Amino acid sequence: MCGIVGYIGEKKSTDVLVDGLSKLEYRGYDSAGVAVYNNECLDVRKKKGRLKILANSLEEQPLDGTIGIGHTRWATHGAPSDENAHPHATASGEIAVVHNGIIENYMKLKDYLGTKGYTFASQTDTEVIAHLVDYYYEGDLYNAVQEAMKRLEGSYALAVISKNHPDELIAVRKDSPLILGIGEGENFIASDIPAILAYTRNVYLLEDDEVARVRKDGIDIYDKYGIPVMREIFKVDWDVEAAEKGGYKHFMIKEIHEEPKALRDTLSPRITEENEVNLKDLEISNRRIKNIDRIVIVACGTAYHAGLIAKYAFEEKLRIPVEIDIASEYRYRNPIVNESDLYIIISQSGETADTLAAMRMAKKEGAKILAITNVVGSTVSREADYVMYTWAGPEIAVASTKAYTTQILCLYLIMLEFGKVRGSIKEDEYAALVKELKQLPAKAEEIITEDNIKHIMKSAHKHCTVADTYFLGRNLDYAVALEGSLKLKEISYIHSEAFAAGELKHGPIALIEDNTLVITIATQSKLFEKTVSNIKEVKARGAFVLAIATEHANMIKDLTDEAIFVPQTLDIFMPILSVIPTQLFAYYCSVERGIDVDKPRNLAKSVTVE
Ligand code: G6P
Repeated sequence: MCGIVGYIGEKKSTDVLVDGLSKLEYRGYDSAGVAVYNNECLDVRKKKGRLKILANSLEEQPLDGTIGIGHTRWATHGAPSDENAHPHATASGEIAVVHNGIIENYMKLKDYLGTKGYTFASQTDTEVIAHLVDYYYEGDLYNAVQEAMKRLEGSYALAVISKNHPDELIAVRKDSPLILGIGEGENFIASDIPAILAYTRNVYLLEDDEVARVRKDGIDIYDKYGIPVMREIFKVDWDVEAAEKGGYKHFMIKEIHEEPKALRDTLSPRITEENEVNLKDLEISNRRIKNIDRIVIVACGTAYHAGLIAKYAFEEKLRIPVEIDIASEYRYRNPIVNESDLYIIISQSGETADTLAAMRMAKKEGAKILAITNVVGSTVSREADYVMYTWAGPEIAVASTKAYTTQILCLYLIMLEFGKVRGSIKEDEYAALVKELKQLPAKAEEIITEDNIKHIMKSAHKHCTVADTYFLGRNLDYAVALEGSLKLKEISYIHSEAFAAGELKHGPIALIEDNTLVITIATQSKLFEKTVSNIKEVKARGAFVLAIATEHANMIKDLTDEAIFVPQTLDIFMPILSVIPTQLFAYYCSVERGIDVDKPRNLAKSVTVE
């Protein structure tokens, strides 16, 4: 899951591939590899670690040939290693594949192909694709890829090469971007435009379910039925920097737009066709789940806020006591650890120093550790007993967005699994929760529409000069208020605080005066009336109230000065949706104030020192 480059032409292909991959390094990766056609053979070279390691190896022992595919991998299935790096080739070395995305049914396919005599050299989902194409191969590579696609579930961008077809590369796109670069006497495949900008600015943008035959002197695109597709040439007029951001102005807004996909990638491989949560990847036994007496969640920053949501949700649905602590606090107190505790450690990077220290302390005392992280092979993932990955893809902006919403999603999946195993969530409720959970990616998409964005931009334009902002909420809305407030201060430098709305009269209300901006999250139906009272209290003192509420709470319009609506879901799942407008609001305030959104002052993406 990261960078793809393919080349067919007259140049030495490894030069183009390594150069193209180097343009994608900014996205983060853990290994790199190439497969090159040379002398009626496919030569595969792949290395764990930086691209430089691969490049050095290619310098020492060059691979000649003018047709090849290359990849930088961001591990999902299987740790970063030479074996798990792409390309993946069949045992006979006839077909090699690079892949971005996730094959959801790869276990099933692996079992099936096993019965047909195929053996596997890696732990990846990608390797099944190479074997599946081989299985359907009857002399035409394009046909074999079309057939294989019918069996693949999930998201994938692919580049496929075969030693029997030195005159073409096959490119496929489904829910994962892929473009084709048009040269003269040469053509390119790439997952992202920057990879090929040094060679051409003319590209075809592949659409979902399309397959392309890429030859030296031409490109043909077909739909999934094999019907030729006419595609206009897209002329890239962005500079490299803009291209890296996929045409977005900043990584943060790109990553907000990626949230629906990140949610889908994290969720769909873990829901079976029978609508059951499948946490096989967690490898935690039912006995262990049943024996948990207490859950302790430890994390920093945004990850801590994701954990706070789990505290509310778990206590309600699991009836297990949940403690939550900030890692830097946890490590310097004298916490009581029991062997029957389950520790949930949440960390996007998996490298945060305080989080690691807290995890090690609990582990030393005999507690079991379940880690939620976005980085396969990170320290947290290596040291934990159980690991659950957020498949959000690399997050580059310092302010976390898609990693946060996918962390919450993982926590909901854990809640459902534990609830079923422990019997605290009954069958009907379980079915209703799973059904609704599956709707969340689409509902997130409904928030990131042009109209909503225009509305939030306008609102940011109006409010971005305020000196202070207060976020209010109760219960799960309070957890979201904390995250919304953190996001705003991180990237807009506007002073912001979040309060549990019920605490208002115990102090914070003294801060409210004419035109103080109060952002109220009001999505929890059982507490709606209470939140309304708080809105009235601050309004009576002159506050400007901006509410984030569900479409059903239409009356909020009359009570507040401004409202941003999000789709309705079950109360317990609201945080994944209600946080998105706060991310967008923070983003546009930052833009209005001319701040370096992706790299705000004094902050780091991963705080690996104390
Ligand atoms: C830094 C980042 C935050 C992040 C926190 C925890 O402060 O700027 O965005 O939430 O670290 O990072 P982790 O990688 O452990 O989730």
